Amino acid sequence: MKVPFGTITIDQKAKDLVNEALNTGRVSNGKFVRQFEERFAKLVNAKEAIAVSSGTDADVLALAVLYDLGAKRGDEVIVPSLSFVATGNAVLHAGFKPVFVDVELETLNIDSAKIEAAITPQTRAIMPVHLMGKPAKMDVIMQIAKKHNLVVVEDAAEAHGAMYKGKNVGEWGDMAAYSVYLAHIITTVEGGVVTTNREDFAEILRSLRCHGRACKCKVCVVNTSNSYCAKRFAQGKDIRFIFERVGYSSKMNELEAAVGLSSLDMYQQIIDKRHHNLITMIDRLKEFDQYLMTIHEEKDERIGPHAFPMIVKKGAPFTRDELVDFLDKHEIDTRDLFSSMPTQCPGFDYLGHQLGDFPNAEYAGNNGLHIGVHQDIHQEHIDYVMATIRDFIKSKVR
Ligand SMILES: Cc1ncc(COP(=O)(O)O)c(C=O)c1O
Repeated sequence: MKVPFGTITIDQKAKDLVNEALNTGRVSNGKFVRQFEERFAKLVNAKEAIAVSSGTDADVLALAVLYDLGAKRGDEVIVPSLSFVATGNAVLHAGFKPVFVDVELETLNIDSAKIEAAITPQTRAIMPVHLMGKPAKMDVIMQIAKKHNLVVVEDAAEAHGAMYKGKNVGEWGDMAAYSVYLAHIITTVEGGVVTTNREDFAEILRSLRCHGRACKCKVCVVNTSNSYCAKRFAQGKDIRFIFERVGYSSKMNELEAAVGLSSLDMYQQIIDKRHHNLITMIDRLKEFDQYLMTIHEEKDERIGPHAFPMIVKKGAPFTRDELVDFLDKHEIDTRDLFSSMPTQCPGFDYLGHQLGDFPNAEYAGNNGLHIGVHQDIHQEHIDYVMATIRDFIKSKVR
């Protein structure tokens, strides 16, 4: 039996909408992008959603909004040391210095008790990550941000559908950045979305995604109205060619949004299935509690079912890589549970951190893995995964 890491469901509606876009010739951003933004915003209970070309760009652009608030290049952004590398890359690409804080091994998320010690006069923002869809402690993080006057950008790339203390993740911070890459729950194949309740931030984000243009209204920026807006020549010059901030080229296109619109139709069905798979796997892993740990869903939260993480415990008679090799030989796809960005990703060496600075992130980086919980995984796959882990452990424990 094969257990692939990811899957994508492209239904007839997606194909029809892609064809419609191709037939009209309107393939750059247009009405489908706008519809996708409106529906995405509604789903996560945000006033505004801005579709961009990747989850990484969603992180970068959300951080770049800080310049409009007075931030300077080189100012600091606090991030967890354990995440997919895109989180750290985004801080650097936005022109800021990432200040890494270790994670809690039980939640995989930033250790909120360590955040205040990392704040300096240069700190402008905190960017918590809801890793594997497990919500970070947003109530505590928002209190710290308020006390120190910091912006909060939630990296919700992996957290579609996650809830914390009665609110969606993404509703807590000033902005949230989602990935809609194909391994994620809502997908446009490649893509990202920034959500916010601040209309002024939404305008800045629309400007940022299109080269920093002064033209940034909700409707005409994607050319969905038949006439140009009155603001276009109001300054005596076409505002589409006034570049008022350092921008990016990061638009979503109609073909991607077409896939996204059908993905949104299937959202509830997909998320229910994935959540069921995740909770079943968490429950079934109790059998191997002596050797493997995972995350848990607390009463006041709902995990966004991104994937199923496992960490080999200290003292287990096997390594993560031996387990991964065994699973791989039995056609169960795995991914490593990311790395400590500052100390286990060579691209960050120049920042000068030392191995040992982030013990929990490094432990997860050396001992963690994750497997799929997607909608094409069924009970028989879960039984097979657990039986394979059982066989592996039996072969190691004498
Ligand atoms: C936590 C996190 N942030 C950012 C990203 C970047 O998203 P993308 O791959 O769409 O650029 C990912 C990717 O999956 C991620 O897991």
